[in-house]
Amino acid sequence: MRFIKRTLKKFFFKSGEYWEKRYKKGGNSGAGSYNELAQGKSNFINEFIQEHGVKRLLDYGCGDGNQLGYFKVEHYLGVDVSQTAVAICREKHKNRANTAFLLYDPRTFQSDAARFAPDLTISMDVIFHLVEDAVFANYIRELFGSSKKYVVIYSTNIDRKDEGIHHVDRSFTKYVSDHITDWKLVKRVENPHKHKDTNCDYFIYARKG
Ligand SMILES: C[S@@+](CC[C@H](N)C(=O)[O-])C[C@H]1O[C@@H](n2cnc3c(N)ncnc32)[C@H](O)[C@@H]1O
Repeated sequence: MRFIKRTLKKFFFKSGEYWEKRYKKGGNSGAGSYNELAQGKSNFINEFIQEHGVKRLLDYGCGDGNQLGYFKVEHYLGVDVSQTAVAICREKHKNRANTAFLLYDPRTFQSDAARFAPDLTISMDVIFHLVEDAVFANYIRELFGSSKKYVVIYSTNIDRKDEGIHHVDRSFTKYVSDHITDWKLVKRVENPHKHKDTNCDYFIYARKG
């Protein structure tokens, strides 16, 4: 009986609903968005911004905005699938200049992103939460399609399904090299802060040619 219940739960699981419920109940983006893990991620992104002269950053799956508190960039757009997360971010960062948040909407994402024209899009601690294959495929297409120059991904990169209902690790680099042909993986940087709460590394992509 428990097996059937678990199988049905997995079958009907929707990642977007999971996050909206989690934030609505007062939950946050998770351990990776706080303290030394958040600091480590933003150190990496801030150095990248400096080194490559990035002016416009689109953060796809921005969460509750705690991570943003550490970023140093001129123009920032955060997009999330949870309307509660977007509301929390808007309140938290209402005094921050050149900063905006949008609820993810598949009908308008591409035009919103094109208007913002980011030279860098980032995906931090999101990919392994994209449980449904179609959601994952769409997210990857939009993450790459919306950036003018660079994409930085902070994620695991193995195929594994046993980490809990809202967690599916994927070999996303293989998927990207098979499906996103106008981008190349420039560098993989091992995360110096790996511990029980994270197994992610950094993956830097650039547009070809
Ligand atoms: C673990 S949190 C990470 C938040 C933030 N990127 C960080 O590093 O602190 C994952 C976030 O991804 C968002 N998310 C999940 N699926 C998404 C999707 N398909 N499109 C946009 N955001 C999504 C969730 O709502 C959640 O806020």
